[in-house]
Amino acid sequence: MSVTPILESAPAKINLYLHVTGRRSDGFHKLDSLVVFATIADTVYVRRGTGGIDPVTLDVIGPFAAKIPSGADNLILKAANLMIKQARKKRTASISPIHISLIKRIPAASGIGGGSADAAAAMRALNRLWGWHFPIDELAEMAVSLGSDIPMCLYSQALNASGRGEVISSVTELPKLDAVLINPHVGLETPDVFAALKNKSNPAAKRLPKTVGNKTNFIKYLANCRNDLETPATVLVPEITEILIALNNQTNCHLARMSGSGATCFGLFDDTESANQAVKIIRDAHPNWWVQATELNRMD
Ligand code: C5P
Repeated sequence: MSVTPILESAPAKINLYLHVTGRRSDGFHKLDSLVVFATIADTVYVRRGTGGIDPVTLDVIGPFAAKIPSGADNLILKAANLMIKQARKKRTASISPIHISLIKRIPAASGIGGGSADAAAAMRALNRLWGWHFPIDELAEMAVSLGSDIPMCLYSQALNASGRGEVISSVTELPKLDAVLINPHVGLETPDVFAALKNKSNPAAKRLPKTVGNKTNFIKYLANCRNDLETPATVLVPEITEILIALNNQTNCHLARMSGSGATCFGLFDDTESANQAVKIIRDAHPNWWVQATELNRMD
């Protein structure tokens, strides 16, 4: 079987707001979150492998390669093996050996979905490459056992997430946003942040208006929402406060907030020019931080 290599993008996910509205009996927290995807992304390159014991092999390169496992613990390999298991159940499994290279540009354990985005991108690519054509909903259903954020990363477009993060409804007509992302190069483990959250039952966000309107109105709406994990994450990584202050101090930054369980924060700016200007200033002042301009919810 010939294998045409596939390059699949794994865009970072940004929680524009994240309200924790309760705790479920299985220990997971109930969430209400508005999620968009960024132009900054990891890349998954899927091509013919050499074969051997494992049908899927992986190597990781790129600036953050050293921070994540490339062995069986990597979410990409877990997701691939899960797909193989499901395909075998349906007797549709024609499995040619595959090698995946992951180019890791998004910091690890950083609240912007790196590992989940990588696993989702690999699933999309393998689904095409192996010709299995699982519907995306079915992939999402499989993947939730590996991580609450993988389903949203499979869709990779603006959405509202509830449940433990896996109940998804798409959101249309949000404006494109110019953003700056900052991570202090400190990883944060999601369970630690949830464990440090004192109040587990907070109000859900006010409903997104039917017509969101322009960027200014949308950012005003977002300003009335929260990330309930920001306070507990800041207790664990105090530098988050410094990052939020640095963003808020920039000209034309209209909102600064943490994404997911942190520690990455985003600032929303008027335009690309002001975002780039902020990157320059903040990088000069904090050479040890990861500071990147990006676009959120770009539709092409
Ligand atoms: O599903 P995921 O792998 O992201 O979850 C990692 C951990 O984060 C869970 O085991 C749980 O401790 C916490 N979590 C949670 N509620 C969620 C999502 C994650 O408590 N909705």
